[in-house]
This record gives sequence, structure tokens and C-alpha cells, in this order.
Amino acid sequence: MNKITIAIDGHSSCGKSTMAKDLAKEIGYVYIDTGAMYRAVTLYCLQNGLFRDGNVDTDELRKHMGNISITFQLNPDTGKPDTYLNGTCVEDRIRTLEVSAKVSHVAALDFVREAMVDLQRLMGEAKGVIMDGRDIGTVVFPNAELKIFVTASDEIRARRRYDELTAKGEKCNLEDIVANIRERDRIDSTRAVSPLRKADDAIVLDNSYMTIAEQKAWLLSQFERVTKE
Ligand code: DC
Repeated sequence: MNKITIAIDGHSSCGKSTMAKDLAKEIGYVYIDTGAMYRAVTLYCLQNGLFRDGNVDTDELRKHMGNISITFQLNPDTGKPDTYLNGTCVEDRIRTLEVSAKVSHVAALDFVREAMVDLQRLMGEAKGVIMDGRDIGTVVFPNAELKIFVTASDEIRARRRYDELTAKGEKCNLEDIVANIRERDRIDSTRAVSPLRKADDAIVLDNSYMTIAEQKAWLLSQFERVTKE
């Protein structure tokens, strides 16, 4: 059976990566978390003092882009890919609130997007890939055979993120997370370059009241429908 490209876009913290990872494992596809790539660039900026008064120094970052290498490696313990920044595993460090609070600004920069989109197209060239992000079905792979646009209510998304962070032992407060999610949605949807929007041919999934198992089954049925057509 010919492999296809699956694009999963949608709002922040609505479980896109969980469902994408699960499906990838089930059908033997490669999973690529493009949000992790923008997060890794943000972490690089933090580690290299490229934020000045809360804003990224774009001229400096532009000069540094050639020094930023982002790769993924399958973690044999979790069965899921970990993100590496210049050879160091940064999977946990890119998920902190500090990175979450700054990533939308970095992801709105045209030269950062160009570099990441080039890398994403290269990673997905051979098909058999599930990529999640904000612009996969609209910009990165507009010809993807299966496009899903995922959403859920702000409060439910914040609660899921809160549970995830507290489970990892990170101290956080629910109101801050709701505010962060709303602010990220606002920046992601209103930025000039590749704003978050549903592709015309994407299928919408509102998973506010679905369990992970239900989402998984729904996504698998969509995959089977498209590959049987
Ligand atoms: O999916 P995430 O929350 O890890 O994404 C982190 C940020 O990166 C989010 O604010 C939007 C941005 N992003 C993007 O602009 N384009 C993508 N393809 C993926 C993520």
C-alpha cells in the first residue's frame, strides 16, 4: 500500500501530538512534532541570551540560524521521538512554561519559519509521515492526503496542560495556563506569516469531550477511509 502524508493542525494543547504519536506507532509511520522545532529554536534563544527585555533580538537570531540543528531520535523506552538541539536531548526543557510563553513570538518570524518549513519538507519527503503543527495542511504539505484540524475549549485544553505539567512536578497555576493558551492562539492566528487556519479540505475534530482512546479510534478510521479510497 502506498504511504500517504497526514497533516494534523489545530490550537495549542488540544492533544494533537498524543493522537498523532499513537497513530504513527500503530501504522508504522514517522511522527514529526513541528511545535517541538519552534520550541527548540526558542530554547536556543534563551540559552544564548537572544531575548532582550522579553523580545527576541531578530538580527542576532538571524545570524545564529546556521548554528541551530534540530533532529529527532526515537526513544526506545517511550517508543516516541525525542527532540535534540545541537545533539543534546531537550525534550523536557522545551516543554516548560518559560519556553511556552515565548515560543509564539519566535514562531512568528519569517526567517525562522522558512528554515523550519524547509526542514519539515525534507523530513516528510518520503511520505509515510504524520506531522502536527499549525500550518502543515496549509503551507508545509498542502497536498497531504489526510488533513485534520483539531480543537477543544480553552478551559479543557488548559486543564489538560496543567495536569501534564503537575504530573512532571512543575509548579504552575491554572489561570496562568489559560492566559498562556489564549495568548498563543491569538498570536498564532493573527501573525502575518502562515497564520493558524483550517485548510479548506481539512476535517475538523473537536475533542473537548472525547477520551484519548476515542480520538485514537476516530483517527485510525479516517486513515483507513483515505487509504482504501
Ligand atoms: O504545538 P506546540 O504548542 O508545541 O507549538 C509551539 C508553538 O509553535 C505554538 O505557539 C505555535 C507554533 N507553531 C507554529 O507556528 N507552527 C507549527 N507548525 C507548529 C507550532
